Amino acid sequence: MKKDILQVLQKFSPILLNESMLERPIHTNLGDLALPCFSLAKELRKPPVAIAEELAKAIHHPLISKAQAAGGYVNIFVNRSVITDSLLKTIHTQSTAYGSNNDGNGGVVTIDLSSPNIAKPFSMGHLRSTVIGNSIALLLEKNGFKTVKINYIGDWGTQFGKLLTAYRKWGSEQEVQNAPIETLLKLYIRFHEEAELDNSLNVEGRAAFKALEDGDAEALALWDWFKSESLKEFQRIYDLLGVTFDSYNGEAYYNDKMEPIVDELNAKKLLIESDGALVVELEEGMPPCLIKKSDGATLYATRDLSAAIDRKITYNFVKSLYVVGNEQSLHFAQVKQVLSKLGYDWADTIEHIPFGLILKDGTKMSTRKGKIVLLEEVLNDAIALAQSTIEAKNPNVLHKAEVAKAVGVGAIIFSDLKQHRKHDIEFNLASMLQTEGETGPYIQYAYARASAMLKKAGEATLFTVDEVNDFEWEIIKVLEQFPYSVQRAANELNPSIIAKYAIDLAQAFNSFYGNVHVLSDEAHRSYRISLVSSVAIVLKEALKLLGMQAPEEM
Ligand code: ARG
Repeated sequence: MKKDILQVLQKFSPILLNESMLERPIHTNLGDLALPCFSLAKELRKPPVAIAEELAKAIHHPLISKAQAAGGYVNIFVNRSVITDSLLKTIHTQSTAYGSNNDGNGGVVTIDLSSPNIAKPFSMGHLRSTVIGNSIALLLEKNGFKTVKINYIGDWGTQFGKLLTAYRKWGSEQEVQNAPIETLLKLYIRFHEEAELDNSLNVEGRAAFKALEDGDAEALALWDWFKSESLKEFQRIYDLLGVTFDSYNGEAYYNDKMEPIVDELNAKKLLIESDGALVVELEEGMPPCLIKKSDGATLYATRDLSAAIDRKITYNFVKSLYVVGNEQSLHFAQVKQVLSKLGYDWADTIEHIPFGLILKDGTKMSTRKGKIVLLEEVLNDAIALAQSTIEAKNPNVLHKAEVAKAVGVGAIIFSDLKQHRKHDIEFNLASMLQTEGETGPYIQYAYARASAMLKKAGEATLFTVDEVNDFEWEIIKVLEQFPYSVQRAANELNPSIIAKYAIDLAQAFNSFYGNVHVLSDEAHRSYRISLVSSVAIVLKEALKLLGMQAPEEM
């Protein structure tokens, strides 16, 4: 619409007027768009006030109801009914496809996300990666990309030699079965404590990993068992979060696929020996990338290099994303540079999507000695808290357990996604679950209100729009922005744009809800119902893009 209006204005001065000059006034009484005329004064040799007056008179367009000069500005009031009518019809016709575009043109984007380490607790960092990565995937799909979500499980490395050794010495099958991750973590911690006193344990650990690498059947069977027990625990978390993956190829998958990359680095004369280890030297003050240790063991970076190439061959991605915490920035910069040095121009399409920490009272929430924050417990606490609120406020809700799950989990997801991912976020369950303020439940509650109203209203009928009040107009302006927010969020790989959008829409809807009669005002009833159902469609879609559910009642 800005473009349309601009065409009208350009008849007046084609050179000077451009789209960026049109502003959106904060207050509706100053119009929907404003054109400041100050920068035109010099060229046109007239005072801004005079220019504004002339322009205001010249503006005529079916989309504009009024143009008013005021102190050097032209305030433009658009024709609310025409715009509202066409927007509501668009949303009703397109339904959940409203806001979609084909920018991606079917290009494949691989997304490395979640990627927890087996035999270790699923950390807050893995939660962030899962939630952020999942939302980015949903956003990219809405913008016409195909996505491949890869859970690159941390299931390989020298630590598994230590774990095997510890299990053989002190472990019990029963205990692992009962509480796999907790037990394995304890064994791992004990290994480190005892190895400090007795170095022979370290030697044993290294030998055990070597056996694993060489495919020793007994070692592999144990490792495989640790892995499947751990994955069972992770799966419970993914079920709660409602996240699925297209591939679980993790580090171990690349164990027997690293020789080609090492050979290639060698052939291209990029491997340098340094203290017995093999490294690739890098530019820009970056430390060298370790490829093989002096004992021949490969490293995290070696596996990531072969995984990156494998992904390119398998999926021919247009972009390859890694949703991993800030602390691994150097690692991904190194991997990217090694790939560039190998001559792969697609290295430029690799992008690390970093994020900050989750803090509890200002300090990192993590696996500390002995005291671990178990994510599953956190999620279940949130669900229980949501359940008791529902019990107190609205005990007649059907499917209470399902609603509590949607609200509890949604609260955690929303509090993560509403801020830019690079920021550290403070974790406070009680405030996340408030139904007022910028929270998940606040948005879900707005959706439930809209749903309840629509249920009461019955079938939507044909409508005409003859008058749009300020409350309605606020909603229309937000609804109209949805496609742009979807596009911007995908371009910037930034789900917080959608979270903020959802807050704006819920707020606009709630003030409408509190001030306008929908069902009792016959004259405007069907138009208002269609407005409410448009809000419901778009709110639900926004929540879906964040990976959240929208219960019909709560
Ligand atoms: N497992 C790793 C960790 O927990 C994260 C893996 C990230 N992805 C990757 N391709 N390196 O720290």
